[in-house]
Amino acid sequence: MEQSELKKMAAERAAEFVEDGMTLGLGTGSTVFFLVEAIAKRVKDEHLHIQGVATSSRTAEQAESLGIPMRDLNDVDHIDLCIDGADEIDANFQGIKGGGAAHTLEKMVATNSRRNIWIVDESKMVDHLGKFPLPTEVIPFGCEQVFRKLEAEGLHPHFRLNADGKRVLTHNKNYVIDLHMSNIKHPHILKNYLDAQVGILEHGLFLDLVDNVVVGTQDGVKVLTATRH
Ligand code: A5P
Repeated sequence: MEQSELKKMAAERAAEFVEDGMTLGLGTGSTVFFLVEAIAKRVKDEHLHIQGVATSSRTAEQAESLGIPMRDLNDVDHIDLCIDGADEIDANFQGIKGGGAAHTLEKMVATNSRRNIWIVDESKMVDHLGKFPLPTEVIPFGCEQVFRKLEAEGLHPHFRLNADGKRVLTHNKNYVIDLHMSNIKHPHILKNYLDAQVGILEHGLFLDLVDNVVVGTQDGVKVLTATRH
């Protein structure tokens, strides 16, 4: 099976966790695209009353076009369940997100959700984080200073560029600096360092956050419960 089929399998299984009356956090990316389709089908077939909070305009537009009512994060008092993709998940269920540059809004929605589920194909499951470049979102003002500090720290920063060679802009009109580290030995130490850097709005380390991971594999879908040691 191709990667996109594995993503679709995981997304469709995760859609089964949606219950009538829920406020749902909806992530961003190609796996979430399948999720939104699957949830919309359940809403239609089973007459579910749910509402969504999106982590990007892409997801919001897709969900609305399929009849899922959307709310702003500011306007809900809680989110029951957030379902999102991920770029890497290690053996301790720590994750990297932000391959689609949406990690700041994704982290806002995830940390305001009672339960978090990630949906991935099996290629995203790794022993150690870091092969996937770790995204950060940086404010343009003074960003070269931030870049130099990251470089001096040995974190191998690269501004993310689009196909035209221009710097990618996030939803908030900020830049993305990806850290090409190969192997993140101590995710919590790195998180604390990045959290402390003025000018970095948010980074893609999502630690101690996920509750379940739904993985599409060649042997079928696996639902994993996060255990950390
Ligand atoms: C968006 O910024 C990311 O965090 C995505 O959730 C992540 O890149 C997964 O994307 P795919 O589902 O497209 O692989």
